[in-house]
Amino acid sequence: MFAVLESQVLAPNLHMLTLEAPDVARQAQAGQFVILRAEEDGERIPLSLADWDAAKGIITVVIVNVGKTTDRLTRLKAGQAVPTVAGPLGRPLKIEPVKAVCLVGGCYGVGSIYPLARAYRRQGSRVLIVLEGKSGFAFYWEEKLRSIADKIVYITRDGTRGARGHIDLLPRAIEASGELVERVIANGCNHLLSEVCTATQPLGLPTQVCLNTLMIDGTGMCGVCRVTVGGQMKFACVDGPYFDGHAVDWQELFQRRQSYLREEVQSLRSSAGMEECL
Ligand code: FES
Repeated sequence: MFAVLESQVLAPNLHMLTLEAPDVARQAQAGQFVILRAEEDGERIPLSLADWDAAKGIITVVIVNVGKTTDRLTRLKAGQAVPTVAGPLGRPLKIEPVKAVCLVGGCYGVGSIYPLARAYRRQGSRVLIVLEGKSGFAFYWEEKLRSIADKIVYITRDGTRGARGHIDLLPRAIEASGELVERVIANGCNHLLSEVCTATQPLGLPTQVCLNTLMIDGTGMCGVCRVTVGGQMKFACVDGPYFDGHAVDWQELFQRRQSYLREEVQSLRSSAGMEECL
């Protein structure tokens, strides 16, 4: 069992869990993820590593509450435990020697870009962080991100923080920052990732995205996380999770992501005692 050391609400529907997982913490690298189960024989869900401390043997993940398993995870309290923490999984992100990198984060991705910012900063690149959200209340870890970013730009749909609008403002934000951005890396929901790619493609700006796929084993065996990138079949768990966003077949990804939506909603309602609503 893996002990829960801290459980905290970061923003509406967003939760942070810090777990004791020394083996994972010792080997973790930027861009990797873990697979968690909330209970024995429960669903396995992939979560990006948002932070870790090898010396203390702890890892931190940020969870968006979207279904039965994430709901159980977000209800855990310090002192409780989870049966499964598998990882670190996935290929570590290659930290390219660039003058400046632009890291885009939304939702749980605000936390997941932290290790990337830390890795790029250590390597000597300047770090521009662009945070996108529905409103100002969607942001968290601002102190933490400020400690390693050279600049942070906010975009909110209701204009309560930073520029008002959508992530299509990204090219303007990069230009206004004055940073010599040579690479964009995005983490968050697939919709945000595809929009980032739409915004950066005309600029010819290399863009890597952390794909959000369903997963079961996380080792390339089950095929559930299959994606098409550059016309080739890839598995997000072993070939990714980061891919060239301009080469991803987004249409297929969105379709595959919807495959079990009905079952997910049904499962959530059942666990909440809402069967009569079905
Ligand atoms: Fe099974 Fe990737 S999760 S192949």
